[in-house]
Amino acid sequence: MKNLGTKIIETERLILREWTLDDMVDQVEGLGNFETAKYLTVPFPYTAQNSIEYIKQHSKNVPNNYAFAVELKENGKVIGGTNLYISGDENSGGIWINENYTGKGYGTELWLARAKFAFEVLELNELQNGYFEFNVRSKHMQEKIGYKTIGKSAKFCPALNKEVAEILTRLTKTDFYSAIQSSKLKEIYVNIKIL
Ligand SMILES: CC(C)(COP(=O)(O)OP(=O)(O)OC[C@H]1O[C@@H](n2cnc3c(N)ncnc32)[C@H](O)[C@@H]1OP(=O)(O)O)[C@@H](O)C(=O)NCCC(=O)NCCS
Repeated sequence: MKNLGTKIIETERLILREWTLDDMVDQVEGLGNFETAKYLTVPFPYTAQNSIEYIKQHSKNVPNNYAFAVELKENGKVIGGTNLYISGDENSGGIWINENYTGKGYGTELWLARAKFAFEVLELNELQNGYFEFNVRSKHMQEKIGYKTIGKSAKFCPALNKEVAEILTRLTKTDFYSAIQSSKLKEIYVNIKIL
C-alpha cells in the first residue's frame, strides 16, 4: 500500500507534517496544559518522557495510522496536533490546539484539513469522532462542519481523573461537502493544499 502519511498538508496559516523530536517542548507546552488535557485522553501531567515516546512512535506515518504536528507558518512553532487511525470500516483520532492559540480560527483550518486528507486522499466515506459532553467548543466545531450525533459512551480522562460522558459523532463525506458550502468555510477549504 502507498504510504500517504508522508504528505504535507498546508492551510492558509498552518503546515501539517510528521512529528520530530524537536517538537517535544511545544507538544509538552500544549498538552501539559490542564485546560487542553481535560478534553482529551492524553496522560496528565504530560511529561517530556510522554512526548518523546509519542513522537518516537508517530514520527514516521504508516498506512492507516497518521499523526501530524501542526506548525504555524509564520514562525514554525508547533501549536497543535492531529491523528487518524483506520481499522477496517472504523476510524478514530483527535485534534488539539495549544490553549494560547485557540479562538483564532486555527482549529477550523485544522479540522477541515484533516477531513480533506481523509476524504480526498485516503478516500474514506466517513469520519468517526466524539467529544466529552461538556466540550462546547468541539461540539460547536463539529456541528459547524456537518458532524451528526450517533450515540453516547464514556471514557476515562486522565486530567480529570474520572470517567466522563462522551458524545459519539460521525461525519459523512456528503454532510461535510454540504456543510462547507458556506462562503467562509469554502474559502478555508479551497486554500488547503495536500502536497
Ligand atoms: C476544539 C479546538 C480544537 C478548537 O480550536 P480553535 O482554534 O479554538 O477553533 P476556532 O478558533 O477555529 O473556532 C472556535 C469555535 O468555537 C466557538 N466557541 C468558542 N467558545 C465557545 C463556547 N463557549 N460555546 C460554543 N462555541 C464556542 C467559537 O465561536 C468558534 O466558532 P466560530 O468559528 O463558528 O465562531 C480547541 O479549542 C482545542 O484544542 N480544545 C482542547 C482539545 C479539544 O477539545 N479537542 C477536541 C476534542 S473532541
